[in-house]
Parts: sequence; C-alpha cells; structure tokens
Amino acid sequence: MKYKRPRGTQDLFGIQMERWRKVERLLSGSAQRYGYSEIRTPIFEMSELFIRAVGEGSDIVSKEMYLFQDKKGRNLALRPENTAPVMRAFIENALTRRGGLSRFYYLGPMFRYDRPQAGRYRQFHQFGAEAIGSSHPAVDAEIIDLSLHVFRILGFQGIEVRLNSVGCPRCRPGFTERLKDTLQHYREELCGNCEGRIEVNPLRIFDCKDCQEIKGKLPLITDYLCAECRDHFNALQDILRGMEIDFTLDPLLVRGLDYYTKTAYEIVLPGKGAQNALCGGGRYDGLAQDCGAGFIPAVGFSTGIERLVENIPPSVLEEMGGEKTDVFFIILEEGGYPVALSRARALRSLGLKAEVELSGRSMKKQLKTAVDAKADYAIFIGSDELRRSEATVKNLITNQQDKIPFSNLETYFQNKGEQDLGEIG
Ligand code: HAM
Repeated sequence: MKYKRPRGTQDLFGIQMERWRKVERLLSGSAQRYGYSEIRTPIFEMSELFIRAVGEGSDIVSKEMYLFQDKKGRNLALRPENTAPVMRAFIENALTRRGGLSRFYYLGPMFRYDRPQAGRYRQFHQFGAEAIGSSHPAVDAEIIDLSLHVFRILGFQGIEVRLNSVGCPRCRPGFTERLKDTLQHYREELCGNCEGRIEVNPLRIFDCKDCQEIKGKLPLITDYLCAECRDHFNALQDILRGMEIDFTLDPLLVRGLDYYTKTAYEIVLPGKGAQNALCGGGRYDGLAQDCGAGFIPAVGFSTGIERLVENIPPSVLEEMGGEKTDVFFIILEEGGYPVALSRARALRSLGLKAEVELSGRSMKKQLKTAVDAKADYAIFIGSDELRRSEATVKNLITNQQDKIPFSNLETYFQNKGEQDLGEIG
C-alpha cells in the first residue's frame, strides 16, 4: 500500500473505538454534572495566539507546532492545546459580560510535532475543563476535584496529585533572576538544550530528564512567592485537606506552558516513566491580558484521552467491551431482504440494536457472525418463513426457538424488552 497514516497518529475502530466512546461519554457526563458546559473551538487558530499564550521559549511553540499559511498568507497553527483558544473564544464572544464564573469543558484533537513513543502522539485528544472569572482558590480546588473524579470513575488506583505554585509576574522575575545566577555556576554540567535555556526560559530546566542532579542544587520557586501567591497556595491546600483530597507538594513542578500563575498541578501514575503525566493544569490569571483583554482570572486542566484509555485498569476495561447486538437477522432467501431490512428498522425504533446480515453467505457463516456480535437473538428468514410470513426467532443464550409472524415481531420484542432486554422504551 502506497499510503500510510502520518507518524504519531492512530486509526481507531472496532472495540477500541467503542471504548473511546464510552470514555468520552463518561468524561462529558462528569463535567456536566459539575456544571461545566461544552465548548467547541476551531481546530486551527492564528499561530500568534499560541506564540503569545504558551510562550516562545516553550517546547510547544519553539519545536512542536504544525504551522501553515492559508491562501491569503495568514499564519495559522493546528491547535497544540485548547486553553488559549477557549480564552480567545471567551473574550471574542464577549462572554465576560455574563459576570460570575463561566465553566467550560471540551473534548477534541490536539497536534504537537513531538517524538512519538508510548503514550505520546502527534495527533492526540484532550478532555479539559476551564473555569473562567474567579481568583478564588476554591475554583482551583473544584478543578482538581473534577479532574480526579474522572480517574475515580474509571477505576484508576494509586494516582497522585502533584501540586506547586509557580508564582506570578510580581514574584517570578525575582526567582528567575536568582535561578539564572545559580545556573551560571553549573553551566558546564547542564545538557546542551538546558545551556541554551538559561537565558530564554530557565524554568524549563526543571522539566529536563537529563539534568536531574543539578535540580537539587537550584533555588525553589516556593521560597520566592509574594504574599498574595503564598496566601493563595496555603488557602488552596487548606481547602483540599478539607475535601480530603490527597496531594504531594512538588516544588520542582513547573509545567511546559508559560501562561501559568500561582497553582500548577499534575496527576501522575507513578512507575509509568516519562509519560506518567495523565493530566495537567493550573491557574492562568495573566492569559486574558496576554490576549489583549482585561484581567480575567482562570484555572483549568486537560487530560490526554490516549493516556487515559491506555491505562484504564484491565478489570474496568473488560466491562467496557463492545456494545452488544440485540437482534441479528439471518437471511436465507433473496425475498428475505426487504422483510429483514424493514423489520430491523421497526425494532431499532424501539431502541434495539438490530443488524442485518447482507453478505448472502451460508447460514453457518451468518450464524457465526451473529454469535461473534454477541447477539441475544437470531431471526432467520428463509423460504419456509417467507411462505408462512413468520420468522424463526432463536434466543442465542437459551437456544429456545419461537415462530413469530413478521407483523408481531415488534410486540414480541417489546414484551421481551420488559422482561429481559430492559432498555426498550
Ligand atoms: P499539557 O500538560 O501540555 O497541558 O497537556 C495535558 C495532557 O495532555 C497531558 O497530561 C497528557 O495527558 C496529554 N498530552 C500532552 N501531550 C501529549 C502527546 N503528545 N500525546 C499524548 N498525550 C499528550 C495542556 O495542554 C494545558 N492546556 C492544560 C491546561 C488546561 N491548563 C489549564 N487548563
């Protein structure tokens, strides 16, 4: 075959796709129950939005963006993340006028030209939530709680919340200067990448896997927080304790995006190595101003759906098997097609999943397909059935067989539904 999918992308189908759908349904249901409403923004935006918001020194902007020009020469980017687009949409649609707290969630593809490996893709999908319009640490706590809720309902065990404060434009510059000074002493010991980062974005050094040893010798942001950032951080910790949410303070956690202020956190699955971050988020009170609007405090998180699906505990995964078929029509005569297709349509309108075998293969093969689809019932339509205008309905679990007039199939399954199929109505 001449064409292959681009590196770092996936084709999803079959059982995998069904699991994704279930996970997506659980995620959106959770967000809605917390009062978050869905927002969908374009998959591409002006590249400048991400350059301003995520930061020129970040890996995302400096190395990983899919950039292109449209026919009018506008510079666009496939979105590498969705916090900046949500804030852009919030401002552009004048949602600020609503006042109070606005809560949004989203699900969709993101694009980063990263080195593909387990849990890391070039097209990946995020579920995220953003709460816009309040500086109160209780909102940070709600966001952390919602992100944890997602892992709870998916049966994750042993996940950890790592929490830090990365300060604000008032206290961070003092820390950054101090960090740069210290790093000058260790210039020789830094990896090539980090040496170049000293001037551009020294905080990134905390993310570097090759410079582990030096990290222990560096000043910590939490020792440089201004009174406001410190109070916010302490208040958030008090609220989390009051909610009985466990967390670990991690003064080395800086996150790879420049818009964060105050709270930064990740949810990790220890022992998963480099790709152990299942979820990341934090507060970004300066982002609206970076986008040219006034002061709009906000906090949010996103989680990678691939990483979620790939790490769902096996016992939960088993329960997430494919959606079963209720009735499966097996056709043994040409004249059976219109009967089966129209009866299947009628049964579907009762809420049943009805499939019709259209392959024209032998009865044995058709029956095998029905069994593979985990169908509860097979409905045979052959020459006898057509002559008598009644179908042979076989319960594939008990093997019990009934002859049911074509015109009574709906009533038959409606009654059955009340007894055992359960969901009709
Ligand atoms: P992020 O840490 O860059 O934050 O990404 C969030 C999550 O997306 C990660 O924890 C991971 O699960 C997933 N992820 C990131 N890159 C990849 C990849 N290449 N392949 C697979 N999964 C990936 C953000 O994107 C922020 N917008 C989060 C946020 C929302 N902060 C505030 N609000």
